[in-house]
This record gives sequence, C-alpha cells and structure tokens, in this order.
Amino acid sequence: MSAKLLVTGGAGYIGAQLVHDLLVAGYQVVVVDDFSTGHPEALYRVHALTGRQSEVFRGDISDGRLLSRALAGVDAVLHLAAYKMVGESMVEPERYFRNNLGGMAQLLESMHVAGVSRIVYSSSAAVYGSQADPQRPIDEDAPLRPENPYGFTKAQGEQMLEWMAWCRQWSAISLRYFNPVGAHPSGRIGQPQDGAASLVPRALQAILKEDARLQVFGTDYATPDGTGLRDYIHVVDLSRAHLAALGALLDTPVSRGHQIFNVGTGRPHSVREVLAACQRATGIRVPCDEAPRRPGDVACAVADPTRLRRELGFEATLGLDAMVTSAWEWCRGNPTGYGPIEPRAPRPLPLGRGSLPPSAAPTTQGRIK
Ligand SMILES: NC(=O)c1ccc[n+]([C@@H]2O[C@H](COP(=O)([O-])OP(=O)(O)OC[C@H]3O[C@@H](n4cnc5c(N)ncnc54)[C@H](O)[C@@H]3O)[C@@H](O)[C@H]2O)c1
Repeated sequence: MSAKLLVTGGAGYIGAQLVHDLLVAGYQVVVVDDFSTGHPEALYRVHALTGRQSEVFRGDISDGRLLSRALAGVDAVLHLAAYKMVGESMVEPERYFRNNLGGMAQLLESMHVAGVSRIVYSSSAAVYGSQADPQRPIDEDAPLRPENPYGFTKAQGEQMLEWMAWCRQWSAISLRYFNPVGAHPSGRIGQPQDGAASLVPRALQAILKEDARLQVFGTDYATPDGTGLRDYIHVVDLSRAHLAALGALLDTPVSRGHQIFNVGTGRPHSVREVLAACQRATGIRVPCDEAPRRPGDVACAVADPTRLRRELGFEATLGLDAMVTSAWEWCRGNPTGYGPIEPRAPRPLPLGRGSLPPSAAPTTQGRIK
C-alpha cells in the first residue's frame, strides 16, 4: 500500500505541480487548501492529466477540526500553504504572522494529535536576506537575516520544526527554495499571473499585454552586465526535490531530526540573461525600461546546492531556457491564469470535505466558463 500524504496549499503554483507528481508516483494524496490564492481549476487539471484523484478538503489550516479529518491515516505532510508576497507582508505583517505562523502552529498541533511526525516544509531563500559577501553562493549555515515579515515567518517556521524534532523526535525537512520558475510541460498547470511578482512572469506579461512594460530595477550592480544575479529553479525540478526529501523521510523509521536544504541550481543568471531567454522562447523582445535599484535588492543571491546533492542525491536538471519556454507555453495558453476564482467558479467544491468530481472537458485558454 502506497503512503498517504497531506499536501497543504496543494492548489497553488508549486502545490499543484507537486500533487501532480505525487499522484504520478503512486502516492495517495489529500489536499487542504482554502483557495485564497490557489485555484480549484488547478486540481481539476492535475486530475485530468494524471487520471487520478486527490481527496480535497476546502478550508483553512487554522481549522483544527478540518485538519483532524484530513490527517486520518496520513503518513507525512508536505506543508506549502502560506502567503508569499514579500511586499504585501511589509504592508500587512499581522496577516502573515497569523497565516504563516498561526496556521502552521495549528498544523503541527493537529499532526501531533494525529500521530503524524514527518513533514516537508516550504521555506525560502528569503530567510537569508542580504549576506555579507553577496558574490558567494549561500550555503545552509549562512546566518539568517530575513528583511521582511514574510522571510521572518519562514525562518520562524523552520525554528518550530527544529523544536518539534527536538522535543517530539519528529523527522522534518525544510526546503529553502530560491526562485521557482516555469510550468508543467503540458502548459496546463502553472503560475497564475495574479500571484506572480517575479521576473519571468512579469517579462512574459509585458510581451503579452500591449500596454505593459517591464521595469529593470538596477543596472549598475557590480555584476558582469550590471543587473542583479539570481538562482532560478524549474518548478518541475523543485517538485522533484520534494519527492527526494519525502523518500528520505519515509525510508527512515527513527527520527532524522530537522534538516535544511537549499533548492537551487547554483547557477546565477542576470536579469539581462533572463530577458534574452524570454526573447529566445517567444521570438519577441521584452519591452522594458531601466529603473533605479530597489531598496533591499541585492546584487547576487545564488544557492550552494551541495548539501542537497550530497545528502539526498538530488540535482536540478532543467536550465533557464526550459524554464522560460514552459512558462511561455503556460502564459500564452492561459493568459488569465486559471480564470476568476469567485464568484464564477462553475463547479463549486464541497465545503469541508470531499473529492473533486471528475474533471469535465478541459477549459480552453484557462477561462472558466
Ligand atoms: N513561489 C515562490 O517564489 C516561492 C519561493 C520560496 C518559497 N515559496 C513557498 O512555497 C509555498 C508555495 O508557494 P506557491 O508559489 O505555490 O504559492 P501559492 O500562493 O500559489 O500557493 C499557496 C497555496 O496555499 C493556499 N493557502 C494559503 N493559506 C492557506 C491556509 N491558511 N489554509 C489553506 N490553504 C492556504 C493557497 O490557497 C494556495 O493554494 C509557500 O509556502 C511559499 O512561501 C514560494
């Protein structure tokens, strides 16, 4: 019998790709999602692509009664549900504390009550903030210097897991994602544009929308072409990293404690390189303007992914062109993302508990009709 997993935030950008891959790998999957930023349509499409169903609980991870039902028989949790917008977290920090920390505290308590002691946690490179030597790849022992409430909540989430591993002998793995980019190769699941603050979706939007232009913030950094260097990881690779982490947790009967891994490629790409990749993928030059540096942006933020390779045997395989090409396929085929969530969702999900009904014919152009 295959393991049963709970994925929180399984209808989100990364969660949908992960639920897809877990179903393909033969796991039984339960999803808890309140659809605050995720989309039911993402799960319909995952089910259509895989020919398998996850069990979906529509609701908030701060609802202990909902979690106790969702956790029945679960072997491990993959915890992705969170708010993730750095700028928004500066404006509404308390919302981030309540959801990312309050929600996670409830999840951990419910896991304890249900006797579930294995968890993979979505952390972020935002925990590092600016490092003393921005040219050096960042390893997991670098000091934590979150510079916004979002990064703070991710660092605190890791600390909670540290204590659960220590006090309750849990096995926990925190994955510090660098910059997830790209979409499922089918072009059917990807990052909704409404939640995209990152470079590639914004560049592709600038190509798609007649009146949009991309702003390139900072062209005078001490980097080869003057623009900032970042470590981008294909969402398909990122999802694979979760399966590697999960395999390690499920393989070990005794506590592994809490382990932390960077998930990046270790290869830096400048903004100009990304824009060139967008032009290669689309055949269109990204309309853009140069703008001053933004406060808080660093010249270079690149992962040292050695620990992930050494301890979990995982290595990212997909390069920048594959990331951008898949993002373009998604963006072009779904210009409005999954379409409006409310109030026009045509196939309402049961509140609380329930499996999604089998997918109807796939919607075209990402519009829910
Ligand atoms: N995308 C990135 O650039 C990035 C980078 C580093 C880390 N992360 C982390 O990865 C995780 C997933 O990110 P994503 O890009 O898929 O974001 P997303 O917003 O697309 O997905 C988050 C999902 O969680 C759900 N959710 C949020 N709060 C919830 C709650 N209280 N109860 C139930 N469901 C809830 C949302 O509806 C959504 O489906 C997050 O924890 C995020 O912090 C993302």
